[in-house]
Amino acid sequence: MLLDIIAGARPNFMKISPIIAAIRKAASDGHDVSYRLIHTGQHYDKNMSDQFFEQLGIPLPDINLGVGSGTQAEQTAAIMIGYEKVIMERRPDLTIVVGDVTSTMACAISAKKLHVKVAHVEAGIRSGDITMPEEVNRLVTDSITDYFFTTSSYANENLERAGVQQERIFFVGNTMIDTLMANLDRLRKPAFWDQYGMESGKYLVMTLHRPSNVDDKDNLLSIIQTVMELAGEHKIVFPVHPRTRKNLDQTGFSDERLILTEPMGYLEFIYMVKNAKAVITDSGGITEEATVLGIPCMTMRNSTERPETCVVGTNELIGTDPKALIPAIEKLMSGNWKKGTIPEMWDGKAAERIINAFVTTLKPEPVYD
Ligand code: UD1
Repeated sequence: MLLDIIAGARPNFMKISPIIAAIRKAASDGHDVSYRLIHTGQHYDKNMSDQFFEQLGIPLPDINLGVGSGTQAEQTAAIMIGYEKVIMERRPDLTIVVGDVTSTMACAISAKKLHVKVAHVEAGIRSGDITMPEEVNRLVTDSITDYFFTTSSYANENLERAGVQQERIFFVGNTMIDTLMANLDRLRKPAFWDQYGMESGKYLVMTLHRPSNVDDKDNLLSIIQTVMELAGEHKIVFPVHPRTRKNLDQTGFSDERLILTEPMGYLEFIYMVKNAKAVITDSGGITEEATVLGIPCMTMRNSTERPETCVVGTNELIGTDPKALIPAIEKLMSGNWKKGTIPEMWDGKAAERIINAFVTTLKPEPVYD
């Protein structure tokens, strides 16, 4: 059984790492299973891509489609064309896509049109905000998925409501958390820790890259100024996504407590989150990591596709108005942030469950034209 694993953008890499490890383990246990790793090239910088492969020990991709930057349609089209050629040269028995980035949707479409079965890892999550490209990607991908692997009961319910039969839904947990748990004893202190005299619990980590927060320079400036006004003695560590960099540089803002860095490696970033007082973010994945690490998390968005991080975790949706940071940071500083627990099935074994399902019961039948 040949499985194609698709990875394209930064949040995909930590999700495929345990899946590849589980395939290798199944093969070494004597199961007939092999894989091809296909990197679409949506993210291509050392900072956004290569260092995740190095740090997580992910094997080099078998194929790199090298699509690079572009508009949503340009990237989608280039990935579809590239992956279609790969399939036509040699058909896999199954294509595994993860998450909700453009590469996820584009490869699912190419596979399905060539009658290759599609498995979606992190299926069924919905923000309800159709203006996000990720929400379009989730809806399209799930409309053509054969095997739905889910991270939460909310995702199961969304899929059932959309008419997906229960026997195609597999509640397995969260592969991103598999990677988190597998690397907790390998975390690395970033080089700037000593340089800036960092101390555990004396800083906040901030990440922003959603268009609603970063594409308007004045809005971005207002967020940063508000955070700095409320931070007191705390430092703010802000690894800057390439999308955010241009506008941030134009604001010309600086403050000795504000530490701007390049996008960090996985091991350094998780080290920073684990030791932070809190996280301010507009990412989805980071709300999951903060929840598992028990670190207070403020999400600058109006919706989340991961409600479990708010209901049982440490995350709170505060919206995109910079003023909303005021009561949230005050609550944090007064020691009144909620505690939170770890969501059901987030136990580090999701990838094992996914691959076990394929080598034991599912065995996708190859479809030939
Ligand atoms: C993508 C994902 C988003 C994910 C984010 C994490 C989609 C629709 N969005 O958004 O879900 O949270 O990745 O990073 O797939 N760039 C570089 N170097 C790179 C990659 C990108 O400089 O290696 C630049 C691009 O030229 C572009 C900007 O960053 O100007 C945005 O990149 P893009 O991949 O289009 O989307 P992201 O905003 O990163």
